[in-house]
Amino acid sequence: MAAHVQHILDEGLAALAATNDPVELENSKARYIGKEGAITALLRQLATLPPEEKKTFGATVNQAKQAFEAALAARREELAAEKLARQLAAEALDVTLPGRGRAAGGLHPVTLVQQRIEALFRSIGFEVADGPEIETDFHNFEALNIPKDHPARAMQDTFYVEGGEVLRTHTSPIQVRYMLNNQPPIKIVAPGRVYRVDSDATHSPMFHQMEGLWVDEGVSFADLKSVIVDFLRNFFEDDTLQVRFRPSFFPFTEPSAEIDVMGKRGWLEVGGCGMVHPNVLRNVNIDPEKYTGFAFGIGLDRFAMLYYGVNDLRLFFENDLSFLGQFKQA
Ligand code: PHE
Repeated sequence: MAAHVQHILDEGLAALAATNDPVELENSKARYIGKEGAITALLRQLATLPPEEKKTFGATVNQAKQAFEAALAARREELAAEKLARQLAAEALDVTLPGRGRAAGGLHPVTLVQQRIEALFRSIGFEVADGPEIETDFHNFEALNIPKDHPARAMQDTFYVEGGEVLRTHTSPIQVRYMLNNQPPIKIVAPGRVYRVDSDATHSPMFHQMEGLWVDEGVSFADLKSVIVDFLRNFFEDDTLQVRFRPSFFPFTEPSAEIDVMGKRGWLEVGGCGMVHPNVLRNVNIDPEKYTGFAFGIGLDRFAMLYYGVNDLRLFFENDLSFLGQFKQA
């Protein structure tokens, strides 16, 4: 190959080898074999040569052009492969890494306790009833034999809603609603949120109660005692749990009692109960001459505290996951 052709070719090949940039690679192509390229210029010189030189020089320049084209094609492939390799490295996934997993939620301890109590009462034929959290004065007080200005209203510090309605102060309005819509026999438990103006380690302005109600012919205080004692012994899984009925007062029951259980440090109050007051039955169109019934109300949060050994009620309402996560598989 003529020395100056070889020189141009070497320069061209060096240019191809020197770049990693596809755009520059194409610029080099233009500089050597493009319209104004150095090798193209050599081909153009052919026309000016005498015929005997044309043949050998032509062959030489064509060889050089082919060598450049081959090198260009090879370099293009190399750059494409490098680009792909870089991309693969950057986007690499280590499929052997452990997965992130999904944090499984759990039911709230008060919900777990509520479901447990519902199941115990279902097993003896009770149904679960529900009602609204914003109640009328009638359902929350009046129908329950708590007339306006009755001192018993002071027992429950009430949140009032604009328009004269109240945030229900207990689950007892659920029994009012149920009795208005159903005639005996009635056997219900009614869990739900209730509200009172109160807040400290053992009181929260929102807490949970469960109401129980059994109305039928001949229901007696003995039935009340046996149902409650059985329930408590089942709930606390203690066949010899001591239960005490302490005389008390509620406007909607007569006679009335507080329910106490014997704890590690003495008697603990867990709820209230009594025989449904005849006035309440009358208010919901049930004949008190024919039917009697008992009702009880328990604090679900209190039950959850006792069941799980939690000593501050507020822990249930702070939504601290490290606290709540401990109750997953109860
Ligand atoms: N409603 C009462 C309270 O919240 C509890 C209760 C219910 C008492 C049913 C007797 C009968 O204090």
